[in-house]
Amino acid sequence: MKISRYFVISLFILLSCVPALYLPTEEQAEKAGIPLDDLKMGRKLYIDHCGSCHMLYLPKQFTVEKWNTEMDSMRTKTTITDLEEKQILDYLLAGK
Ligand code: HEC
Repeated sequence: MKISRYFVISLFILLSCVPALYLPTEEQAEKAGIPLDDLKMGRKLYIDHCGSCHMLYLPKQFTVEKWNTEMDSMRTKTTITDLEEKQILDYLLAGK
């Protein structure tokens, strides 16, 4: 099967958006008091559950208060557990 060059270009554009979301470091995990694996899981959950309707907003785009209130309403728009909601929020707030 021949892969169309438009497919490759779209894929490239799509993937080039994701690295803007920070990859948690050991230092950030320590500072936030949250295990690194939890932050990494939060990032994955955020990408998997929160980018289907709008762009993935960056942690720095909103205040802590705004993230907290938005998470309360956004979690009803997708299927995540309480733990997953916490992991997403931890990831977002640790990146501020
Ligand atoms: C089913 C579609 C859908 C999903 C899934 C979804 N959102 Fe949203 N989101 C919206 C819509 C629609 C709005 C704007 C209107 C509103 O606030 O309800 C919005 C608004 C927001 C805003 C406010 C943006 C602003 O400029 O004020 C944030 C932050 C946000 N979403 C974060 C999230 C997070 C985090 C998740 C994952 C837990 C998520 N969204 C999943 C549809 C969705």
